[in-house]
Amino acid sequence: MCGIIGIASNKPVSINIINSLKKLEYRGYDSAGLATLTENKINEKKCSGRVDDLEKILFKTPSNGNLGIGHVRWATHGVPNLVNAHPHSSEQVSVVHNGIIENSDEIKKDLESNGLKFKSQTDTEVITILITEALKENKPLESVFKTLQKLKGSFALGIIFKNFSNIIIGARRGSPLAVGYAKEENYIGSDSYALKSMTNKISYLDDGELCVLTKDQVSFYDQGLKKINKKIYTMSDNDAVVDKGEYKHFMLKEIYEQPTTVKNAINEYIDSLKKDINIYNFPIEPNQINKIVLIGCGTAYNSCLTAKYWFEELTSIEIDVDIASEFRYRKLKFNTKNLYVFVSQSGETADTAAALDLCKKNNVKSCSIVNVVESTIARNSDWVLPIHAGTEIGVASTKAFLGQLTVLYILCLKIANLRKDISQNIYEKSIKNLKNLPEAIKKSIDTETKVQLMAKEFIEANGSMFLGRGFSFPIALEGALKLKELSYLHAEGYPAGEMKHGPLALIEEGLPVIVLAPKDKYFEKTLSNMQEVIARGGKILFITDNKKESLNENIRFGLRVPHLDNFLSPILLTIPLQMLAYHVALLKNCDVDKPRNLAKSVTVE
Ligand code: AGP
Repeated sequence: MCGIIGIASNKPVSINIINSLKKLEYRGYDSAGLATLTENKINEKKCSGRVDDLEKILFKTPSNGNLGIGHVRWATHGVPNLVNAHPHSSEQVSVVHNGIIENSDEIKKDLESNGLKFKSQTDTEVITILITEALKENKPLESVFKTLQKLKGSFALGIIFKNFSNIIIGARRGSPLAVGYAKEENYIGSDSYALKSMTNKISYLDDGELCVLTKDQVSFYDQGLKKINKKIYTMSDNDAVVDKGEYKHFMLKEIYEQPTTVKNAINEYIDSLKKDINIYNFPIEPNQINKIVLIGCGTAYNSCLTAKYWFEELTSIEIDVDIASEFRYRKLKFNTKNLYVFVSQSGETADTAAALDLCKKNNVKSCSIVNVVESTIARNSDWVLPIHAGTEIGVASTKAFLGQLTVLYILCLKIANLRKDISQNIYEKSIKNLKNLPEAIKKSIDTETKVQLMAKEFIEANGSMFLGRGFSFPIALEGALKLKELSYLHAEGYPAGEMKHGPLALIEEGLPVIVLAPKDKYFEKTLSNMQEVIARGGKILFITDNKKESLNENIRFGLRVPHLDNFLSPILLTIPLQMLAYHVALLKNCDVDKPRNLAKSVTVE
């Protein structure tokens, strides 16, 4: 997803812009660029490749200037190429943009009919032209303000002006924008992470707000252009150091970090002495909760789906699960006794943030389960439960998924206990099992050598299928999602019992079918469904936690993960699937940490 940066300083900024753009690379992008100001001239440099390529260009032809903006672009309007890369500059103004201008075609036609010319296919260039036109009669802030009033859609913007060489203007509607402060230097950035190496003092623009930065001060304005003050947050620096260490990829490192991720969540929420869970300040008294609605996208949605099975088994509360991009447009019956739970690693996902906004507008209570505590979703919700997974860089979410599952399960146990839906004995036993989870995860990771062998079964495959029932069904979905996003191999996740209602038609000789069969109440049924697949030539790759199950000759490959209790089996089954996706991607020479077409933080709709 696009990322923006802006720096106003008392010293040259291009190197720090490049360094900050490198921090934004995790979002996924296809081109990069920057613009600095020198002696009232806009110096624009861009390239259609990586930030490293931009750095090489700068090395050959340096850009001076104590003020500048930078951008990594993830194409929405117009192919990824040099012309469409940001910034988009006229002689007067240079603009970087994250988001989508929905009425850009309309505006473009109008401007073209007045004789104005466009260089790119982007929606962003209309902003450049509109501001340039407005500057003929207005000062910079008024010009930007007037332009914003004509735009529909979402944006975070960074703008510099040839004739006003000491200011950067930032604006936000929909897409996030952070502001950072340091001595004789101020910043804007798509997220706090991009600014982290320069400052830990951060403010966030809310929707409709603008800011004007000089090296010495930052002024904020609301949507009516009235001057306002913003709160300054001091960021924690616990995840300031982010590198691959001894690992070949961030994803592998993050898979191996999972025992610690889960331990962090357990340490945060479990009181071992009292055998209790430290979760307080519920926005709705648990006994009064009518329904819990769990909302997320992609992997976060899969963790919501897993939690639905936990809540249904352990509590008396009705549960709904929704994909945020659907939720935000549905005609819903909001109820003030419902708790709306938003799950997001980044806390910046546009669809999830919009679904949360909808809840706010309807005056219902929200909880967010996020990794980034400074994020938009965390700041906008009534109640925040951080997962404490540390920075996740790999585009394919791994440790954040396990962190989300752990916190959702802990929340479920606490609510079940407070509502007296489960006995004290089961509550304490479940807490005890949870404490053994990090060790069991380590053992699950130890299956890697076997998983590597399993991965070879996918080299020639044209597709694959992941099957599970009950708690294992969402994990089948997550396994399929991981495999397709990393290896670009078609993968379907299905409830095993659903196969005969259609998907069995896809089974052909040698199709890899991963069967998740923990020893739970569905075990025998899953085995029967597996037989239906075997009978049609499917190649079975079987994953279980059942010690007693001996693998028969119809199973091509079998793998055993540790068992703690049935509720924790989805967590332990996830790990071989993450590693499977990783190793298949390696065998297919795919870019594991930055899969094609994907972004880490999806800040556009
Ligand atoms: C996960 O591997 C994905 N890349 C993606 O589905 C992700 O989970 C989704 O975009 C939601 O992101 P969030 O958790 O940051 O909201």
